[in-house]
Amino acid sequence: MSRNYRLLVENAKQVVLICNNGEKFLTKMGMQNLCIIENGSVVIGTDGLIKAVGPAETIRAQYSESSFERVIDATGMCVLPGLVDAHTHPVWAGDRVHEFAMKLAGATYMEVHRAGGGIHFTVEHTREAGAAALLTSLSGRLARMQRAGTTLVECKSGYGLELQTELKMLQVIQEAGRSLPIAISSTYCGAHAVPKGKTVAEATEDILRVQLPRLKELMSGGRLRVDNIDVFCERGVFDLGSTRAILQAGKDMGLNINFHGDELHPMNSAQLGAELGALAISHLEEVTDEGITAMAEAKTAAVLLPTTAYILRLPQPRARDMLEAGVIVALGSDFNPNAYCCSMPIVMHLACVNMRMSMPEALAAATINAAFALGRSHTHGSLEVNKQGDLLVLNAARWEHLIYQLGGHQEIIRYVIIRGNVV
Ligand code: NIG
Ligand code: FE
Repeated sequence: MSRNYRLLVENAKQVVLICNNGEKFLTKMGMQNLCIIENGSVVIGTDGLIKAVGPAETIRAQYSESSFERVIDATGMCVLPGLVDAHTHPVWAGDRVHEFAMKLAGATYMEVHRAGGGIHFTVEHTREAGAAALLTSLSGRLARMQRAGTTLVECKSGYGLELQTELKMLQVIQEAGRSLPIAISSTYCGAHAVPKGKTVAEATEDILRVQLPRLKELMSGGRLRVDNIDVFCERGVFDLGSTRAILQAGKDMGLNINFHGDELHPMNSAQLGAELGALAISHLEEVTDEGITAMAEAKTAAVLLPTTAYILRLPQPRARDMLEAGVIVALGSDFNPNAYCCSMPIVMHLACVNMRMSMPEALAAATINAAFALGRSHTHGSLEVNKQGDLLVLNAARWEHLIYQLGGHQEIIRYVIIRGNVV
């Protein structure tokens, strides 16, 4: 007997749609008023897309149970869109647990970096590692993110700082995207640090004259898919001028601009990003009022990273000021050897407690707005017809338990579903 649909999730106590009007992002009012159906069901087709979402009785009247390959009875449970993690550095070899001890003893992030540790330590290990080993560790990390509810994740290169290793990382990301259910948005971050022995000008020149042209060649030949370009715009790393040149060159190749800005010092990164039409800027712990206004006007998303501020004891990103100003606020885990966190539920919890976001704001930031920051909010980030059938079924009667129970997502997330398949 032929089945016309892949999955029915029925009778959920709450179905959190996030929004239902085709919105590409939400600002404060929309984030505070999420669209929720009490006692609802979701239908996913064999193409992996959502076919219907609505009150359980309506769906039951329209679809016969026998037309589904699988039916999940979600009585007493909640359904949410899969989470979107808008910022990670998940491809690397060599952990930095020893540096965590140094930082706990008082060393700052930049002190460790200047002493040759930090990103430089990871670069040394990642350059030496084979692609197969990097793919194995990346796959394990992505599987962990998936178990914590992430169904779309941004993945950066940036621990090579020269052509061969940057390409190796991007190819490993591409390979992981082909073999795992989780969706990936891939980012070239060759300007993550200035390689040892080079000046900023030399590093910028290498990116503009060697790395980006090769990337362009591979991309246009269809041999490599890259979505975004990133630069670490920071004092002692890439200054505003070199950041501008690299981001503009990436944009000219068709990449989305999505970069690290105003993290440790106010650099006017927000204004630069707004001027260049950046899709998103991450960190922003040190953003100025002018930067916030510029981002709100340009519709450049702010990807806030609560784990980094927490681990490095930085000032908290000004989420409330951004929300008041109308900025599109998104969230990311910033998973990297400095901030070893794969869990968006923990990230949302930290955003609520430390950055004073409400739970609905945090969920919108980790779904529709994170998808917008990756240029994917037409396919991801909410439960709407024709979007991807990516959803979480929570073993809880209210969706807020996902955030409230700190570190409890292993118990609460009953199913992670990607394109209608339980993964
Ligand atoms: O987003 N700030 C720069 N990049 C990363 C850290 C990367 C690392 O320390 O390895 C971040 O926090
Ligand atoms: Fe980062």
